[in-house]
Amino acid sequence: MTALLEVNDLRAQYGAVRVLHGMSFALNEGDVTALLGSNGAGKTTTLRAICNSVSHTGDMVFDGIALRGKSTEAIVKLGIAHVPQGRGTFTKLTVEENLQLGAMVRRNRPDIVSDMDRMYGYFPKLKERRTQQAGTLSGGEQQMLAVARALMLRPRLMLLDEPSFGLAPLIVQSLFDILRKINVEERVTVLVVEQNANLALQISSRAYVVETGCIVLSGNASEIASNEAIRKSYLGC
Ligand SMILES: Nc1ncnc2c1ncn2[C@@H]1O[C@H](COP(=O)(O)OP(=O)(O)OP(=O)(O)O)[C@@H](O)[C@H]1O
Ligand SMILES: [Mg+2]
Repeated sequence: MTALLEVNDLRAQYGAVRVLHGMSFALNEGDVTALLGSNGAGKTTTLRAICNSVSHTGDMVFDGIALRGKSTEAIVKLGIAHVPQGRGTFTKLTVEENLQLGAMVRRNRPDIVSDMDRMYGYFPKLKERRTQQAGTLSGGEQQMLAVARALMLRPRLMLLDEPSFGLAPLIVQSLFDILRKINVEERVTVLVVEQNANLALQISSRAYVVETGCIVLSGNASEIASNEAIRKSYLGC
């Protein structure tokens, strides 16, 4: 299996405070990989480092290209889309304007309308609300919009930070079902950060567990999910 993203000895800090202490991991092309761990472990910081939005060192190679020294914008252009924790939609813009903005850096613009229709296929609620301001959508609808907006970039890799945050269990389950479908149909590789380990493991092939800025466990998602001792010691579930 080829790695789409390889991360080697990643260290990151906020000012003088170091929060990642040499993390190494790889994402296989086409896979969903889960990044799990408790509050403050460094999961969000890891995604920020991949997008170069936090000070860091270490080597990251995306599809054979070194990310070192590249701006966040250049990284987006390479095909890495980030759905940040807390959703990240443009609240004053409509649903449709948010989707259009998602495709801004793309070159193949004629396909944008058909891509938008495909997104409305995944998320029919967004179609009903296409002229509504994003800030007035429900939490679940905003999360769907954030995912759809990221996909409008036609990314090779999508980084999802806590997509289940603040959503009711039924909505979360349906969002994760759609994420799995999107992973297959859009052939997009996914790195998903989640507090809800059980759910993330359901849609992932591999998982990494982070504790205080270090990877303390990695393995096959179904093996981790079925190993009660590991779940209890590392995931608290
Ligand atoms: N902008 C910042 N400035 C200073 N410290 C920060 C900043 N963002 C995060 N930190 C610190 O870095 C550490 C890792 O935070 P991070 O947000 O990566 O954790 P996380 O694993 O995503 O946690 P959560 O599950 O609560 O979202 C924490 O101790 C946090 O307080
Ligand atoms: Mg976080």
